Amino acid sequence: MRAPEVQVCPDPDLLACAAAELFVEQAAQADAEGRLFSVALAGGSTPRATYRLLASQAYAARVNWDSVHIFWGDERCVLPDHPQSNYLMACQAWLDHVPVPPQNIHRMRGEDDPRFAAEAYEQELGSFWQSSFHRQPPIALDLVFLGMGSDGHTASLFPGLPAIHEQGRQVVAHYVDKLAAWRLTLTPLMLNAAAHVVFLVNGTDKAERLQQVLCGPYQPELLPAQAVQPTKGRLLWLVDQGAARLLED
Ligand code: 6PG
Repeated sequence: MRAPEVQVCPDPDLLACAAAELFVEQAAQADAEGRLFSVALAGGSTPRATYRLLASQAYAARVNWDSVHIFWGDERCVLPDHPQSNYLMACQAWLDHVPVPPQNIHRMRGEDDPRFAAEAYEQELGSFWQSSFHRQPPIALDLVFLGMGSDGHTASLFPGLPAIHEQGRQVVAHYVDKLAAWRLTLTPLMLNAAAHVVFLVNGTDKAERLQQVLCGPYQPELLPAQAVQPTKGRLLWLVDQGAARLLED
């Protein structure tokens, strides 16, 4: 594994600012180069502060929303208006408050049969890629936001699941025993093709696992976040001081 790039932010609010600024800068660069900007969003709770900032005038006014295409890194297999929906969280915090064209919002259809939804999402990603860039896969998303669970999972790649080592599919559906629920998730194959992958990790409860993921032995079956090693892209860990407390300076 390459030495990770870690940016320690004094607190969660400043981490959200750093993540929002990075999004705006990346989107502006893509727009300046006359190309679309594709981002895959993380779910959970950590990204909400970043999404709220991106809905604010200070950030939203700096983005050409017509060129932004929104995807998700994973989704719970629930209806889009379910409280557990990652899509709903992003819409309530951000997407409902900015003029991103509805057709640019590519949600995972958690309400459908999981396996069908995974195949459909892989096709939607492929159609976007070919229609926008006239190139064959692998699809290289511009930016992927990821979180990390206290068990070392990321997206919906949970310890022990075969998807961690998936080498064919870019999107899979699987049943997560510990959650007693189905999940849809991008696989490391897709995540590692991205140009920029940014983890957002807050809180002292993540500190021990973060130290294991960043400094411990490579064991992605136990620590799926370790499977995220962009082939050519940049990997950045945006962490707050609580999460970073066990990392050596
Ligand atoms: C999800 C997320 C998941 C999340 C981590 C961290 O659907 O839950 O994609 O991977 O990023 O569980 O969640 P928190 O940010 O809430 O700690």
